[in-house]
Amino acid sequence: MSRPGRAFHYDRVQRGFHWLMAALILVALALGVYAAWQVPGTSPRRELLDIHKSIGLTVLLLLPLRVVYRLIAGEPAYRSAPSRHAHIAATLAHLTLYALMLFLPISGYVYSAAGGYGLPWFGVFSFPRLVPVDKALSQAGDGAHYWIGWGFGIVLGLHLLAVAWHAWIRRDEVMGRMWPRGDARPV
Ligand code: HEM
Ligand code: HEM
Repeated sequence: MSRPGRAFHYDRVQRGFHWLMAALILVALALGVYAAWQVPGTSPRRELLDIHKSIGLTVLLLLPLRVVYRLIAGEPAYRSAPSRHAHIAATLAHLTLYALMLFLPISGYVYSAAGGYGLPWFGVFSFPRLVPVDKALSQAGDGAHYWIGWGFGIVLGLHLLAVAWHAWIRRDEVMGRMWPRGDARPV
């Protein structure tokens, strides 16, 4: 929560995590949806899914670093505090995004690992298979990945709508917290 004397924007590391992971997730979403339309076992579905998995597992590895850093660095102060309800709603939405960033790649991992499929990282190495090869488990992972993927798309859409509303309609400081302009410094 806001502490006096702190900056009004997320620091470089937090912004780096936010924008890098946002870019990775948007690319992973696009590749996942596109690959899901292709016939299994054909090219380029296989190649696109290898990139999709590599990006998704990168997100999974970055997430604990981001969360630990976030817990240490905290949240920037507001220049003009939002209402209690707005702040609770934003916090809940952000927590949901964190949960989705965890469970979406995990469900994809379970789907692929239990299905006996590859777990590549950009052709450099393969991730270990930590679950047994099991058709029912793989199908459960597939179903979870599909529905969590939809849930992610919806919550992300709301996040983007909220950001757009703050940036273009209310024209308040919210966008500047993640994209600081020169004036977003402590006064
Ligand atoms: C996959 C994409 C994205 C994910 C998973 C995501 C997730 C998050 C999370 C978890 C936070 C809260 C940060 C924290 O307090 O720890 C946040 C904040 C924010 N995000 Fe995103 N985001 C994504 C994309 C975007 C995009 C594309 C934009 C802008 C167009 C954006 C703009 C913002 C802004 C302005 C904040 C700061 C809100 C505030 O604290 O007042 N995000 N995002
Ligand atoms: C940020 C991480 C991830 C995001 C945003 C994401 C998103 C998606 C989406 C939206 C789909 C399309 C779902 C459908 O219409 O069936 C998909 C498909 C898929 N994902 Fe992911 N995913 C992520 C991580 C992973 C990981 C880590 C793996 C495996 C290691 C994985 C494996 C797959 C596979 C194999 C498909 C194809 C599903 C099918 O055709 O039935 N995903 N993903």
